[in-house]
Amino acid sequence: MKQEGAPINVVLASVDSDFMMDITQDLQAHPQIKVIGFASNGEAAIERATKMAADVVLTEYSLTDITGTEIAKRLAEDSPGTQVFVITDNITGQLVQSCKAVGIKEVFPKTGFSPKEAANRIAAEVDNARREWSEIVKKHGAVEKGTGPMGVQKTKTEYIARPITQTIVMTHNTKGGVGKSTIAVNLATAIKISPYFSGQRVALVDFDCGGANVGTLCNISDNDCYNRNLATWEYVREEELTPGDVDDMMIDGPNGIKILPAPLNQKVAEDINQDTSAELCNKILRVLRKYFGIIVIDGAPNLSPTTDAAMEHSTHILLIANPEGQSVKQLARTVNLLRPTPDYPDKPDMTYILRKMRIVLNHAQGESKWDLKPDEIATTVGIPIFAEIPHDEVVKKALHSEGNKQAVELEPDGPFAVAIKRLANDICGAYPNGIGNTGTNGKKGLFKKLLRKG
Ligand SMILES: Nc1ncnc2c1ncn2[C@@H]1O[C@H](COP(=O)(O)OP(=O)(O)O)[C@@H](O)[C@H]1O
Ligand SMILES: [Mg+2]
Repeated sequence: MKQEGAPINVVLASVDSDFMMDITQDLQAHPQIKVIGFASNGEAAIERATKMAADVVLTEYSLTDITGTEIAKRLAEDSPGTQVFVITDNITGQLVQSCKAVGIKEVFPKTGFSPKEAANRIAAEVDNARREWSEIVKKHGAVEKGTGPMGVQKTKTEYIARPITQTIVMTHNTKGGVGKSTIAVNLATAIKISPYFSGQRVALVDFDCGGANVGTLCNISDNDCYNRNLATWEYVREEELTPGDVDDMMIDGPNGIKILPAPLNQKVAEDINQDTSAELCNKILRVLRKYFGIIVIDGAPNLSPTTDAAMEHSTHILLIANPEGQSVKQLARTVNLLRPTPDYPDKPDMTYILRKMRIVLNHAQGESKWDLKPDEIATTVGIPIFAEIPHDEVVKKALHSEGNKQAVELEPDGPFAVAIKRLANDICGAYPNGIGNTGTNGKKGLFKKLLRKG
């Protein structure tokens, strides 16, 4: 097997030769990727990949003769060094699971397919396998030729037929400090690191121009935020944008999440809060909806045109509440503004926005005897509690962690991560097989903590 960083030979397979031509150039913009063959059906793809000892087959899932799963099974026998990646328009949890069960490395949605992102993902997987391989060789000396470390993976076969549908989720509260940014960033991370959703394009957008927290939480340099932010989209013409342009106007964040931060410059940020900004934010979200399966928006702490635009586009509006009076009162105010008022029959009907709202009770501060009860909060706001996120020191720990890990990654089985993953599952089905062995987590966590102290 080749060394890390060496060229990666790719065979493309699709019935649509225009599509293959379109993506070839962009794939090859990656310094390692070389497209060495095309195939219009599965048999041809297998033959080409085997003969040419291709490192990768990138194929549409449904071909005229066989599917991507079949290709992966056959290549595991005929050409075990070849990795398979698929592209499909009909992603379901079931499909992703059956693909991964036969060793397919990633399932990319065809809508919004980004050759650049796919190339990065492919290169990472191939280099990873090469690294593992060279370690095995180092440890055990020469290994039988032709067998790679990429055997067929055995996974649980619980199938989920639910389609992966586009999800646009925003955090909202006109009060600051309730956890809007924390939840937005961790939710985006939890979705992207789910094995079912790793092939999905996930965007994280900061609409809080006064706070600009996303850049900080994701460790993006000021220079990057300065060059690529909401304001840099002002003069682009949306009908002329290619997937490559969209990628270039966003920042590569941790775990392959694409980030669009708020501007850091106070003056630029103020301009965005003016009335003209509604059009800018609408444009940004219209474009992102074309290219991303998941969009997470860190909402602004106000009822500005930016918030308007985000609420219009969102499929889920998470009202972030803390168990104290102020944060709940603010939410009740927003909700009341949107409610129909019998005295004003001409008030525009906003019930479609209300229907997207759910309360997430976040314990941003430690427990206090003055804490409001969940049912008091639900009654005051008039919307049921959808999720409860515990107070967890891992949130603070993540702020100082090396390697820029978010809280959900730092302690993936801890109470905060479990609650966020559950939320991710309730929103878009990101964890259909459950989240760890949550039943014993409390105990495990406790013992871990005790041992750490001792
Ligand atoms: N569940 C939680 N556990 C512990 N600390 C939290 C939690 N949620 C938020 N925090 C902390 O609360 C503060 C406010 O959170 P932040 O996300 O910045 O709020 P907002 O975006 O609404 O202004 C931050 O210091 C954050 O680390
Ligand atoms: Mg914030």
